[in-house]
Amino acid sequence: MTTATTGAATPTGAVGTAHTRVEGRDKVTGAARYAGEIPFAGLAHGWLVLSTVARGRVLSVGTGPVLGMPGVLTVLHHGNAPRLTTDYVGMLGVPPDPTAAVFQNDRVPHAGWPVALVVAETPEQAREAAEALVVTYEQEPHDIAFSGTRPDTYPADGHMPALTEKGDVEAELAASAHVVDEEYTTPEEHHGMMEPHAASARWDGGRLEVVDSNQGTTWVADEIVRMFSLDASAVRVRSEHVGGGFGSKGLRAHQVSAVMAATVLQRPVRVVLTRRQMFSLTGYRSPTTQRIRLGADPGGRLRALDHRSLNQTSTVWEFVEPGAGVARIMYDADAHRTENRVVRLDVPSPTWMRAPGEAPGSFAVEAALDELAEKCGIDPIELRLRNEPERGPVSGLPFAGRNLAACFREGARRFGWADRDPRPGVRREGRWLLGTGTAAASFPAGALPSTAAVTAEPDGTFTVRIAAADIGTGARTALTLVAADALRVPTERVRVRIGDSDFGPAGIAGGSMGTRSWAWAVTAAAGELRERLVPGGTVPPEGITVRSDTTAALGALTQRERHSYGAQFAEAAVDVTTGEVRVRRMLGIFAAGRIVNPLTARSQLVGGMTWGISMALHEEAVRDGASGGLYGGDLAGYHVASHADVPAIEADWVDDPDPDDPVGIKGIGEVGIVGAAAAVANAVWHATGVRHRSLPIRPDRVLRAGEPRV
Ligand code: MOS
Repeated sequence: MTTATTGAATPTGAVGTAHTRVEGRDKVTGAARYAGEIPFAGLAHGWLVLSTVARGRVLSVGTGPVLGMPGVLTVLHHGNAPRLTTDYVGMLGVPPDPTAAVFQNDRVPHAGWPVALVVAETPEQAREAAEALVVTYEQEPHDIAFSGTRPDTYPADGHMPALTEKGDVEAELAASAHVVDEEYTTPEEHHGMMEPHAASARWDGGRLEVVDSNQGTTWVADEIVRMFSLDASAVRVRSEHVGGGFGSKGLRAHQVSAVMAATVLQRPVRVVLTRRQMFSLTGYRSPTTQRIRLGADPGGRLRALDHRSLNQTSTVWEFVEPGAGVARIMYDADAHRTENRVVRLDVPSPTWMRAPGEAPGSFAVEAALDELAEKCGIDPIELRLRNEPERGPVSGLPFAGRNLAACFREGARRFGWADRDPRPGVRREGRWLLGTGTAAASFPAGALPSTAAVTAEPDGTFTVRIAAADIGTGARTALTLVAADALRVPTERVRVRIGDSDFGPAGIAGGSMGTRSWAWAVTAAAGELRERLVPGGTVPPEGITVRSDTTAALGALTQRERHSYGAQFAEAAVDVTTGEVRVRRMLGIFAAGRIVNPLTARSQLVGGMTWGISMALHEEAVRDGASGGLYGGDLAGYHVASHADVPAIEADWVDDPDPDDPVGIKGIGEVGIVGAAAAVANAVWHATGVRHRSLPIRPDRVLRAGEPRV
C-alpha cells in the first residue's frame, strides 16, 4: 500500500497544455468498441421498417409470411407493441419526440416513419424479412412545401420567447440613412456524424441495460424510465465511445424499439440504423427563411433591427430553430424586434443540430451587416465595433466577459485585413475572382447540474467517475486534465471513466455545456478529496471516494449574459465561368473561456469552421414534393465538405477565462460554426460583387447570378 499524496501545493498546469486523447490509441487500433459492435451473448437483431407514404395511416402489416422466414423471431408494430408513456417533460424541458415512441398508433405523419421492427437471429435475416414485409396504407395528400409566404405559420416559444420587441421599428427604419431589407434562406441540413445510431438492450436480473451511442446516458436513461414506466434504479445506459452526435443522439427509435423487443422476447436485442434511415429518424436542421431589416444612421449605428426567422417542424413534435435569437445578444438598436415562427408540415421532426438557432441565424444577421457596411461605406469590422452593446440588448443584463472586439482585432491582424481593398470584384487571379469576408460569432455559455465521484485508490492513482459523454470532442481527456490539476497530481495518475448512467446524474454533451458542466463537478469532488487525504496517510483497499453535486453551485451563473464569442475570416475564390467557389483560407479567433486542452479545442473549432464551409457551399437536403421524402438521403447524395473542399483553416483564441467558473471554462462546442458561413458568403460577395442570400452557394446559383457587377 502506497501513501496517499496529492502532490505539491501548486497546480500541475495540465489545464491549458496540449494533451493527446487518452483513448486515442484504442481508437486508432480498433480496440475502442462502438455501440453496434460490442459483443453480447445471445443477441437478436432488429431491423426497422419505415413508411413509404408521407401521410396517412397503416391499414395492415403482413406479418404472416415474414414470420415464416429464416431466423425471424417477431415483428413488432402498432397492433401488438407494448404501450408507452409519452405525456411527460424530460430532463431537457421538452416532451419526447413521438418519432422515438414507436408503434403506438396507425398514423403516418411523414415519409420514413417507423411502422414495424422485424427481429431475427442475424442482422441479414432481419433485413431480408424487413424488406419483404408488406405494409399497406391509406394514403392522404401531404404538404411539405416550406416557404416564408405560408399563411399557417405561428410564433413558437421553444426554449426562448418567440417574440422580443422594443421601440418603433417602422419609424426608425423610415428615419434611417441606410436600410437593408432582405430575405435569407438556409436549407434542410443533416448531422451526418460518422457513427450511425445503434443500441443493444437486455434484461439482466431485473435490470434493463442499454448499450448505446448517445450524448448523455443520464438523459437517455431518464427518457427510457419515463417512457416504459420503469423504476429509475432498474435502468442502466452505457455509451462509452461515440462517433459524433451534433445534437442528434438523444432518445430515438432504435433504443426504444430495442428495449421493446428485448422485453417481448426476453433476450438481448440490437437495433442499428442505416445511414438512409438516419435521414428520417434522427432529426435534422430545419430549413429557414429569415427576413432582416436593418436601419442605420450615417455613421452606421443601428437605429432599427428586425429579424424574423421561420422554420418547419413535423405535425407530431414542435421544434423551434431559433434563428432570430442571435440579435438578442449581438446587436442593439433603438427599435429592436426579433421573432421565431414555425410551420407544421408533413415532414420528419427537426431537432438540435450544432449551434441550433445561431448557425442559420448568424448567416442572415452577419450577411445583412455586411450589406449594411457596404451601404454605409464603413469597414465591416468597424461597423460591428460601432454597434457593440453595453448590456444585453434584450435582457438589459451586464455581460460576463464580452471579448468580441479583441477577437476582431487579433483576427484582423493575423488575416491581414488592413490591406483589404473594400471594393468588390477587383482582385483577379486568372479565371478566379478573389475576395475576403468576415463575420462575428457567439454562442451561449451555460452549465447543467452534474454529479461526479473521485476515488483515491490504494496504488496512488485516482479514478474519476462521471456520466459524461465524449462524442468526439475530447471530453474524457479534458476531464483528465481538470482532475489532475484539482488533485495536483500528474495526469498519468488519473483515469476518467464516463458514459455510464450508474455513475449518477450528469448533464449532456450538448449546448456547448458538456465539458464545463462536468469539469465543475470533477473539480468540486477532486478538490474536496485532496483536502481530505492526509499527506503520508494510507488508503484502504476500497479507496476513498468523494462525491459532488453542482446543482446548488450553478446559481452563481445567473444574472449575467454569458457567451462565447468569435471573429471569422474567410478568403474565397470564385470561378464565374463554372460557378465554382473555393475557400482558400479561414481564420477564426475566439473568446471562449479558458481552453482546457488546446489540441482538441483547436480541432473542435476547426471542425465547426469546416461545417461553415460545408453550410455555405455544399450541404442541402432536397425534399421531393411527390413522395415527401428526400432525394439522395445518404452521404452520396448529401454532400458535406471533404478534404478537397477544406483549405488551411486556423483557429486560435484570446485569453478569456470565465470569472464565475471554477476552471474558467465557457464552452467551445458550437461557436466554431457560428458566423462561418456568413464569412464565406461575404467573401463571395467581395470577390464577385454579387450577394448570395440563399445557401448553399451552389455553382448553378453563381452562374444564374450572372456576370459579376464590377
Ligand atoms: Mo448540440 S446541437 O447541443 O449537440
